Amino acid sequence: MKTNMDAPVVDFNDEDSNTSPNPTFDAVLQTRLSRRRILKGGMATVGSALFGVGLAGCNGDGDDDSDVDSPDTPPTGAPSTEPPEKLLNFGAVPKSLADAVSVPSGYTAQVLYGLGDPLAAGVLAYKNDGTDNDFDKRAGDHHDGMEWFGLGADNRPSASSTDRGLLAVNHEATTNEGLSSFFLHANGGTSTLPRPAAEVDKEIAIHGVSVVEVKKAGNSWVTVPDSVFNFRLTALSEIEIAGPARGNPLLVTKYSPDATRTRGTLNNCGTGKTPWGTFLTGEENWYGYFTRDAADDAARGNDKSVTSLRRYGRNQGAASRHGWESAGADDRYARWIISQSGASADGSDDYRNEMNGQGYVVEVDAYDRSRKAKKRSALGRFAHESAAFRTAVAGQPIIVYMGDDARGEYLYKWVSSANWDHADADAISRIAVGDKYLDNGTLFAAQFSEDGTGSWLELSMQNSAVSGYATYPFSDQADVAVNARLAADAAGATKMDRPEWCGVNPANGELYCTLTNNSSRRVDPTGSQYEPDSANPRVYTDMKGGASQTGNPNGHIIRIKESAAAGDGDRFEWDVYLFGAQADADVTTVNLSSLTDDQDFSGPDGLVFSAVTGLCWLQTDDGAYTDVTNCMMLAARPGQVGDGAKKSLTYPKGDGSTLTVDTYVGKPPAAEQLKRFLVGPVGCEITGFCETPDGKAIFVNIQHPGENTDQANLADPSKYTSQWPSNAGYGAGKRPRSATIVITKDDGGRIGT
Ligand code: FEO
Ligand code: CA
Ligand code: CA
Repeated sequence: MKTNMDAPVVDFNDEDSNTSPNPTFDAVLQTRLSRRRILKGGMATVGSALFGVGLAGCNGDGDDDSDVDSPDTPPTGAPSTEPPEKLLNFGAVPKSLADAVSVPSGYTAQVLYGLGDPLAAGVLAYKNDGTDNDFDKRAGDHHDGMEWFGLGADNRPSASSTDRGLLAVNHEATTNEGLSSFFLHANGGTSTLPRPAAEVDKEIAIHGVSVVEVKKAGNSWVTVPDSVFNFRLTALSEIEIAGPARGNPLLVTKYSPDATRTRGTLNNCGTGKTPWGTFLTGEENWYGYFTRDAADDAARGNDKSVTSLRRYGRNQGAASRHGWESAGADDRYARWIISQSGASADGSDDYRNEMNGQGYVVEVDAYDRSRKAKKRSALGRFAHESAAFRTAVAGQPIIVYMGDDARGEYLYKWVSSANWDHADADAISRIAVGDKYLDNGTLFAAQFSEDGTGSWLELSMQNSAVSGYATYPFSDQADVAVNARLAADAAGATKMDRPEWCGVNPANGELYCTLTNNSSRRVDPTGSQYEPDSANPRVYTDMKGGASQTGNPNGHIIRIKESAAAGDGDRFEWDVYLFGAQADADVTTVNLSSLTDDQDFSGPDGLVFSAVTGLCWLQTDDGAYTDVTNCMMLAARPGQVGDGAKKSLTYPKGDGSTLTVDTYVGKPPAAEQLKRFLVGPVGCEITGFCETPDGKAIFVNIQHPGENTDQANLADPSKYTSQWPSNAGYGAGKRPRSATIVITKDDGGRIGT
């Protein structure tokens, strides 16, 4: 998706509706300052769990200061029968503006699965000229997060299969200029209202999720277009509501008067894979698809639903992103109008509550299309990115971390009520296992403190700050889940620079979260701007060509070490693993991680730890450094929270005083600890990462190449800003397509070695 750095007039990915008065945390009172800091300088151990010992102790105290570097051997899984490999033993890929995928020498990237590729027998090959149809039987658009589900020769789930599996792929959105997704339509489509139903039906179907069988064929990989395992979820598929919101008045619609169902999953961004083998898809910028009448506040009697709608980006009069509501009277179009129009008291005769059906983590059984997907409302409703699991430990709760990607939004944690039972890993009824771990538990939001510690704030009616919140009187726990942003406002969570993916380091259990950028950080904030704070400390000006970009244009990556002290489970320590920056930026104010030309990046977004090598894969969705390089993926061997140093940033204020912000910068990465591995084609973001269980093939998504093409140039392919992947020899036509690539090492080794 476009970032705010190259924003069109209306950027639906830069929603910014957090007007809550939550303080920057220099005003937050610390109630438990007795907690000692781990920051002692120097390198500390990353723990014995590195070497394949159980992870039960991975939230251990880490007081051992022995000088152990990150491992060269795989941290997890069965003992390797192969000789030890050196990680990051490849030549860094240079920054590039070429319309191509670049990988290191000795590696091969192959295009595997593009927009429109068939998913059922009898579906014609994609012509890529805007005349294709049947998108509910084809790959959707804007491939995003992705997970691997191994398949054995017996057609049953396999944890060890390395040559055959299912890819579950998010299809976030579509490349559009104005209302129309112009590459999908022969003549670019209709960008005025009303939109033709034939165009809208196509656009509804390219959203959602696909599951596709892939297999190794010789030295390359292929999809299996007629596999019985293939299926699609679209923006129209029926999905169940699960968790506290199921049956709640907030979910009553004309389609589901009993509030148990909704249609579609929308703007699917990051992903997760549960310990019991299901796929989780995060719904991100869903609010933009709905429209609301200009007089709807009064129609609703200015009740608290208006507060909720505003907090989730839908002021009255808001126009929809694609105008799908205009395509006809049929219910599948009318549902996108969320004004109160019916006479009922409960909303069972209109779609006033329809938007409450979007914004969740949705659980899908990738192996079994007959099991209906479920929206896990307990995990909160917001602009979801990934759902990152801590390693499941028998007898302990399941823990999931999640980011809410909008300016000034929060970082969340889910803790299940049920304790993990390893027998559930092999259950046949996988979605039923999800009922056990994802419907009952506690949701928290993060509050970062300037001393380098922080707290998880409980979002429940048991928290008096939530249950007594004057701005929005919560009715029950369903209300808290559906309006999680408001609950986090009430609790006092810290406003972050757009939390994207979370990932948990398998070596030590520490949480990493990308904060992609924030164009609204200011030293003297006005209106909806944000003052810099310890966890979001940078405000600076970066030049992109002749244009200046202010705030935090390049983003950073924060990390958290959970407290191990008994009864202290809501506390953590944090630092900033890396600050994005161009290598030649000032190392005292901007390039705080001292990134080199082989390491510099901007706009961190995707972040996934390999379960095989332990490498941290970082992906960018950037609009700030794209005058110098296309988006990229880097491989990293991170240290741990506290391996760097405290840093004070001082800013002159308008009144002549100064603002000093203390932050904690992770140890600057050496050349063999962070290295650029891939650069993508023009206009793309790099997103989604999964791998075969031997680590010898990785799958990565190239999203929206050529996104900035002018629709007026549709008839002239030479004017497309990208012709990828046709210029890589993949498929018909020259219109750019989002696609999955598979990367292998020419010597057959693990990726990243
Ligand atoms: Fe879909 Fe925030 O990226
Ligand atoms: Ca720049
Ligand atoms: Ca993202």
